Amino acid sequence: MRSLAILSVGILVVLGVAVAASSSEETSPAAATDGGELVESRCTACHTLDRVWAKAYTAEEWADVVDRMIGYGAELDESERAAVLDELVLEESD
Ligand code: HEC
Repeated sequence: MRSLAILSVGILVVLGVAVAASSSEETSPAAATDGGELVESRCTACHTLDRVWAKAYTAEEWADVVDRMIGYGAELDESERAAVLDELVLEESD
């Protein structure tokens, strides 16, 4: 009986780890390109966030601004650029 109890605890632990692993797999790609964190880390190299949020822009205007920032040297690859744009446009519509 005792070994059965240990076995079922073991199964629960394995299941729990499996669930945790699969849920973190789903969230980690998004976390790696979390728009908010990217804005805070990549858009503060040359100026503060005050500058970023000073004006309201449309999605097209943000794309122009971000491309200009990349031209200045902002480090954003294609997926990071997309995540940053999502964040900027989303914040704007609040
Ligand atoms: C390599 C330096 C650099 C980085 C990194 C940078 N910027 Fe800038 N940013 C500038 C400079 C220089 C200006 C002022 C000149 C200008 O407006 O073009 C500026 C101005 C701005 C402005 C005001 C200008 C306008 O047209 O409204 C916004 C908004 C802005 N940055 C957003 C961002 C965002 C968003 C990021 C991150 C994706 C970012 N910046 C990263 C250099 C940088």
